[in-house]
Formats: sequence, C-alpha cells, structure tokens
Amino acid sequence: MRRFFVPIFSAALLAMAASAATAGPERIQLPVFYGTDFVFVDAVDKPDRDRPVIRFIYINREAAEKARKGEPLPTGTKIIMAEQFGGTDGNGRPQRDKHGRFVATKQIHRILVSEKQAGWGETYSEGERAGDWEFAVFSADGKLMPDVDYAACRRCHRQAVTYDFTFSVFPNLSALKR
Ligand code: HEC
Repeated sequence: MRRFFVPIFSAALLAMAASAATAGPERIQLPVFYGTDFVFVDAVDKPDRDRPVIRFIYINREAAEKARKGEPLPTGTKIIMAEQFGGTDGNGRPQRDKHGRFVATKQIHRILVSEKQAGWGETYSEGERAGDWEFAVFSADGKLMPDVDYAACRRCHRQAVTYDFTFSVFPNLSALKR
C-alpha cells in the first residue's frame, strides 16, 4: 500500500506548487489559436513607432459576452494584442488604405497578453497591482520575453481601473456596471 501512495502524494504536491506559481509573466500561456478561437475586438494603428504597427486585439468568448453587456470581466479572461508591422511606401512612409488606416503585413512584431485569474494580484502590493491581472509579452515565434518592464504594464493599466484595467474591450466604456 505504502509504495502505492507515495507517487500520488508527490503528484498532489506538484499540483500545489504549480497553482502557486510565482507572480509574473510566466503564469500566462499564449493560446495558439487566438485568431479563430477568440473574438476580434479592435485594430489600433500606432504611428509613433519606428515602423508602422497595427495592434489587433482579441478576447476569449465568455469575456467578450460580459464586455458587450458592460459587466466586469470574469476570472480566466484572456486578451491578446498581436502587433503586426504595417507596410511602407517607397519613401518609408506608412502605406494607408482608402480610409487612411495602416495596411497590415503578415509579419508579427510581438504579442502582448493580459490575463485575469482570481488571486493573481495578491502577490503584489496594493500600489503595484492591477486588480488580478498579469501581463506578458511574446516574441513573434511565441517565446516569452523576460526583459520587459512588467511593472510598467500594471502601472499604466491601473489608470483604467473603472474599465476592469482594460483600455479597449468595452464597446461602451461608460456602461461598465459594478
Ligand atoms: C503607458 C500606458 C501603457 C503601458 C505601459 C502598457 N499599456 Fe497595454 N494598453 C494601453 C492602451 C492605451 C491600450 C489600448 C490600445 C492602444 O491604444 O494602443 C492598451 C491595450 C492593451 C491590451 C489590450 C487589452 C486592453 O487592455 O485594452 C493588452 C493585452 C495590453 N495592453 C498589454 C500590455 C502589456 C503586456 C504591457 C507591458 C509590456 C502593457 N500593456 C503596457 C496602455 C498601456
């Protein structure tokens, strides 16, 4: 009997260790199929970069439903913001479509992700947390980028406290019910 119980016990310990993973971007996994499994929210042109960038924002379906109704986002919400390079003309100026919007190439610059899980914010001090959100940045090949100032992500997103720390997912920003 004893021999039988030992491995089960250590598996339970491992599971506990995993759930208590230290705070930081490592807690976030990049979903492979966000382009099809998630709901498209918005595209934002960034003209202030060295190269034109367009940010394509996606959110998981359950959270999209809440956002549509102006309700706080549920635990497990994941938001993907894929930055793609925009095309340039012969003079290095951003290529634009007939509405003046940037024209995206297929080339991904990097992918920013935010995720909300119950209790995640508790590992940070009151002044350092953005609710229960964590933030991560992945390179175009899907690798987590460690040399990013992740405290800065939380700091800036704290300003959006009344919209559940997000800037772009509520179609009617004034509608968030608390
Ligand atoms: C100086 C403020 C600022 C900082 C710093 C910042 N963000 Fe944001 N973030 C924004 C704004 C504003 C938007 C809305 C899109 C836009 O206008 O570019 C946004 C949008 C997002 C979104 C889409 C969901 C949403 O909240 O609207 C994600 C995901 C995201 N940011 C992740 C990150 C990550 C990861 C970092 C840190 C590497 C970070 N952000 C740092 C201001 C900031």
